[in-house]
Amino acid sequence: MRPFLLERYLSKHEFSARLIACASDPDTLRLNDVLALDPEATNQFMAMTLGYTETKGALALREAIAGLYQGITADDVLVHVGAQEPIYAFMRATLAPGDHVICISPTYQSLTLVAENIGAEVARWEAREEADWQPDVADLERLVKPNTKLLVLNTPQNPTGGLLTGDRFAAAMDFAASRGIRVLGDEVYRGLEHAGPRLPSVVELSDRAVSLGAMAKVYGLAGLRIGWAVTRDRALLEQLEIVKDYLSICAPGPSVFLATVALRHADLLRARTLSTVRKNVEIVDRFIGQHARHLAWRRPLAGTTALMRLTSVPSATAFCEELVTRTGVLLAPGPLFGASDSHVRVGLGRASLPEALTVLGDWLER
Ligand SMILES: Cc1ncc(COP(=O)(O)O)c(C=O)c1O
Repeated sequence: MRPFLLERYLSKHEFSARLIACASDPDTLRLNDVLALDPEATNQFMAMTLGYTETKGALALREAIAGLYQGITADDVLVHVGAQEPIYAFMRATLAPGDHVICISPTYQSLTLVAENIGAEVARWEAREEADWQPDVADLERLVKPNTKLLVLNTPQNPTGGLLTGDRFAAAMDFAASRGIRVLGDEVYRGLEHAGPRLPSVVELSDRAVSLGAMAKVYGLAGLRIGWAVTRDRALLEQLEIVKDYLSICAPGPSVFLATVALRHADLLRARTLSTVRKNVEIVDRFIGQHARHLAWRRPLAGTTALMRLTSVPSATAFCEELVTRTGVLLAPGPLFGASDSHVRVGLGRASLPEALTVLGDWLER
């Protein structure tokens, strides 16, 4: 298997760097914060038994997840451990060596690498910085092949903070439908639109499409490791369950309980994350203005991340390595996402970002 470079990078630095300025997960809630959402929750949590849980996911959790979508029921939901697990399960269940996949780029690396590790060929549908990180719909016609099985969308997009326009999203869905290509929508940032409209989920437009979601980004509960796959294609859902039996089997009971409580207050938690992101977008925008000799960006529209372009250094990878070693501030270089080595990812969901930017600003000016 080719290594998942972002995770290797984070594994090296995430728990030793002093200031994490590239995180895609926002500030997380405490256990107490989640339990305080519901007056019954603490007693129920303390009394719960710690056995295996249902492979599909407890009905109450699947109902709460289904409530995030239009026209979806609990039977269309398969709970997983994180959103990483269903990326793997989905690709393992649907792809074979020699298949062709089109995937929006740059993006979370496992969306391309899992397919490549299986032996599929992946063509990148490039989001263009000069077009505010919109890809060109005409490129889909250029990339498609007779054996294209899958179109992978990730909107809101990690790392760019881009959000497909409604027209482009509809055109991409039409393109896939007219050729019988299945769509995987990695929608783990859906709901975090801070400067644009919320698009429908892919599963609201296609009964063969699959949507991935998670507790990590929108709800600030990455450590619960709860994610999900949603599709109206029941045969596919069964295939995912078969793969899942070889992975986690079932999600941990305490996480299932806490995720259920949290999703009953989904709007509140989403608003909390959005409030930090909105403040940080303004702060980064001012920061970039103050350091315009070194930095540029396209303001993000959604999600918890954005790309900044380094205009005065030859390699973002080398820059990030030196920055973390000398100052303790962690940024993530573009190549970890299939972006250029002039870009770095900045994380917008943490209240500590301004402190990290102060250190980064001093470093840049020196
Ligand atoms: C686009 C995307 N998909 C999936 C994941 C994995 O999410 P989880 O932490 O729930 O496994 C991430 C995490 O960064 C992501 O950015």
